[in-house]
Amino acid sequence: MGSKKTFTMIKPDAVSAGNSGAIIKMIEDHGFVVNAMKLTQLTTVQAGLFYEIHKEKTFYNDLVEYMSGGPIIPMILGKDNAVEDFRALIGSTNPAEAAEGTIRKLFATSISANAIHGSDSNENALIEGNFFFSNLERMK
Ligand code: CMP
Repeated sequence: MGSKKTFTMIKPDAVSAGNSGAIIKMIEDHGFVVNAMKLTQLTTVQAGLFYEIHKEKTFYNDLVEYMSGGPIIPMILGKDNAVEDFRALIGSTNPAEAAEGTIRKLFATSISANAIHGSDSNENALIEGNFFFSNLERMK
Protein backbone atom coordinates (compact mmCIF):
# COMPACT_ATOMS: atom_id res chain seq x y z
CA MET A 1 0.00 0.00 0.00
CA GLY A 2 1.37 3.43 -0.95
CA SER A 3 0.75 6.93 0.29
CA LYS A 4 -2.39 7.96 2.17
CA LYS A 5 -2.54 11.64 1.24
CA THR A 6 -1.73 13.92 -1.63
CA PHE A 7 -1.95 17.62 -2.35
CA THR A 8 -3.68 19.21 -5.33
CA MET A 9 -4.80 22.59 -6.51
CA ILE A 10 -7.27 23.50 -9.21
CA LYS A 11 -5.46 26.14 -11.24
CA PRO A 12 -6.74 29.59 -12.34
CA ASP A 13 -7.76 28.47 -15.85
CA ALA A 14 -10.06 25.74 -14.52
CA VAL A 15 -11.52 27.90 -11.73
CA SER A 16 -12.26 30.81 -14.09
CA ALA A 17 -13.76 28.46 -16.71
CA GLY A 18 -16.25 27.19 -14.12
CA ASN A 19 -14.83 23.66 -14.11
CA SER A 20 -14.10 23.37 -10.36
CA GLY A 21 -17.30 21.51 -9.53
CA ALA A 22 -16.87 18.96 -12.33
CA ILE A 23 -13.23 18.39 -11.35
CA ILE A 24 -14.02 17.91 -7.64
CA LYS A 25 -16.82 15.48 -8.62
CA MET A 26 -14.33 13.46 -10.72
CA ILE A 27 -11.86 13.43 -7.83
CA GLU A 28 -14.51 12.14 -5.40
CA ASP A 29 -15.88 9.63 -7.91
CA HIS A 30 -12.37 8.13 -8.09
CA GLY A 31 -12.33 7.42 -4.36
CA PHE A 32 -10.45 10.43 -3.00
CA VAL A 33 -11.76 12.07 0.18
CA VAL A 34 -11.39 15.86 0.49
CA ASN A 35 -9.57 16.37 3.82
CA ALA A 36 -9.04 20.15 3.42
CA MET A 37 -10.05 22.67 0.77
CA LYS A 38 -10.23 26.43 0.27
CA LEU A 39 -10.45 29.06 -2.44
CA THR A 40 -7.56 31.51 -2.36
CA GLN A 41 -5.29 33.58 -4.59
CA LEU A 42 -1.49 33.58 -4.40
CA THR A 43 0.60 36.75 -4.49
CA THR A 44 3.53 36.65 -6.92
CA VAL A 45 5.86 36.23 -3.93
CA GLN A 46 3.87 33.22 -2.65
CA ALA A 47 3.69 31.64 -6.12
CA GLY A 48 7.43 32.20 -6.52
CA LEU A 49 8.06 30.37 -3.24
CA PHE A 50 5.71 27.50 -4.06
CA TYR A 51 7.46 26.91 -7.41
CA GLU A 52 10.99 27.65 -6.15
CA ILE A 53 12.07 24.20 -7.35
CA HIS A 54 11.54 25.47 -10.93
CA LYS A 55 13.45 28.75 -10.36
CA GLU A 56 16.05 28.03 -13.03
CA LYS A 57 13.53 26.94 -15.67
CA THR A 58 12.79 29.15 -18.67
CA PHE A 59 9.07 29.08 -17.87
CA TYR A 60 9.45 30.10 -14.18
CA ASN A 61 8.43 33.77 -14.51
CA ASP A 62 5.44 32.93 -16.71
CA LEU A 63 4.44 30.17 -14.28
CA VAL A 64 4.57 32.52 -11.28
CA GLU A 65 2.61 35.21 -13.12
CA TYR A 66 0.04 32.71 -14.31
CA MET A 67 -0.47 30.99 -10.95
CA SER A 68 -0.91 34.31 -9.12
CA GLY A 69 -3.27 35.70 -11.76
CA GLY A 70 -6.55 34.33 -10.43
CA PRO A 71 -8.19 32.22 -7.73
CA ILE A 72 -7.08 28.64 -7.12
CA ILE A 73 -8.54 25.81 -5.02
CA PRO A 74 -5.88 23.93 -3.03
CA MET A 75 -6.92 20.64 -1.42
CA ILE A 76 -5.51 17.80 0.65
CA LEU A 77 -6.89 14.46 -0.54
CA GLY A 78 -6.98 11.11 1.22
CA LYS A 79 -6.89 7.65 -0.43
CA ASP A 80 -4.69 4.57 -0.34
CA ASN A 81 -1.86 5.07 -2.84
CA ALA A 82 -2.96 8.71 -3.11
CA VAL A 83 0.08 10.26 -4.83
CA GLU A 84 0.37 7.69 -7.60
CA ASP A 85 -3.37 7.24 -8.16
CA PHE A 86 -3.90 10.99 -8.35
CA ARG A 87 -1.09 11.47 -10.88
CA ALA A 88 -2.81 8.82 -13.02
CA LEU A 89 -6.17 10.59 -12.69
CA ILE A 90 -4.83 14.00 -13.75
CA GLY A 91 -2.73 12.77 -16.71
CA SER A 92 0.42 14.19 -18.33
CA THR A 93 1.59 17.77 -17.68
CA ASN A 94 1.10 18.56 -21.35
CA PRO A 95 -2.61 18.01 -22.16
CA ALA A 96 -1.68 17.06 -25.73
CA GLU A 97 -0.05 13.95 -24.23
CA ALA A 98 -2.67 13.27 -21.54
CA ALA A 99 -4.62 10.00 -21.73
CA GLU A 100 -8.33 9.92 -22.54
CA GLY A 101 -10.52 10.34 -19.47
CA THR A 102 -7.90 12.19 -17.41
CA ILE A 103 -8.65 15.58 -15.85
CA ARG A 104 -6.07 17.35 -18.00
CA LYS A 105 -7.35 15.72 -21.19
CA LEU A 106 -10.84 16.95 -20.34
CA PHE A 107 -10.12 20.40 -18.89
CA ALA A 108 -6.56 21.62 -19.66
CA THR A 109 -5.91 23.91 -22.60
CA SER A 110 -2.08 24.15 -22.63
CA ILE A 111 1.02 23.05 -20.71
CA SER A 112 0.79 26.15 -18.50
CA ALA A 113 -3.01 26.37 -18.28
CA ASN A 114 -3.18 22.69 -17.39
CA ALA A 115 -6.15 22.81 -14.99
CA ILE A 116 -4.72 21.01 -11.97
CA HIS A 117 -1.60 20.21 -9.95
CA GLY A 118 -0.78 16.91 -8.27
CA SER A 119 2.17 16.29 -5.92
CA ASP A 120 4.84 14.01 -7.38
CA SER A 121 5.96 12.35 -4.11
CA ASN A 122 4.92 11.79 -0.50
CA GLU A 123 7.55 14.27 0.62
CA ASN A 124 6.28 17.00 -1.71
CA ALA A 125 2.65 16.25 -0.82
CA LEU A 126 3.49 17.05 2.81
CA ILE A 127 5.51 20.17 1.96
CA GLU A 128 2.86 21.48 -0.44
CA GLY A 129 -0.04 20.72 1.92
CA ASN A 130 1.79 22.54 4.73
CA PHE A 131 2.27 25.54 2.43
CA PHE A 132 -1.48 26.10 2.23
CA PHE A 133 -3.03 24.55 5.35
CA SER A 134 -2.38 24.89 9.06
CA ASN A 135 -2.90 21.92 11.39
CA LEU A 136 -6.17 23.52 12.47
CA GLU A 137 -7.51 23.42 8.91
CA ARG A 138 -6.70 19.76 8.38
CA MET A 139 -9.44 17.27 9.08
CA LYS A 140 -8.21 14.24 10.94
P1 CMP B 1 2.68 21.27 -12.48
O1 CMP B 1 3.38 19.99 -12.73
O2 CMP B 1 1.42 21.28 -11.74
O3 CMP B 1 3.73 22.27 -11.77
C1 CMP B 1 4.76 22.86 -12.54
C2 CMP B 1 4.13 23.54 -13.71
O4 CMP B 1 5.00 24.18 -14.59
C3 CMP B 1 3.46 22.48 -14.59
O5 CMP B 1 2.37 21.96 -13.90
C4 CMP B 1 3.15 23.29 -15.80
O6 CMP B 1 1.95 24.02 -15.66
C5 CMP B 1 4.33 24.22 -15.84
N1 CMP B 1 5.25 23.75 -16.87
C6 CMP B 1 5.96 22.62 -16.88
N2 CMP B 1 6.69 22.54 -18.00
C7 CMP B 1 6.42 23.65 -18.71
C8 CMP B 1 6.86 24.13 -19.96
N3 CMP B 1 7.74 23.45 -20.70
N4 CMP B 1 6.37 25.31 -20.37
C9 CMP B 1 5.49 26.01 -19.60
N5 CMP B 1 5.03 25.59 -18.40
C10 CMP B 1 5.49 24.41 -17.96
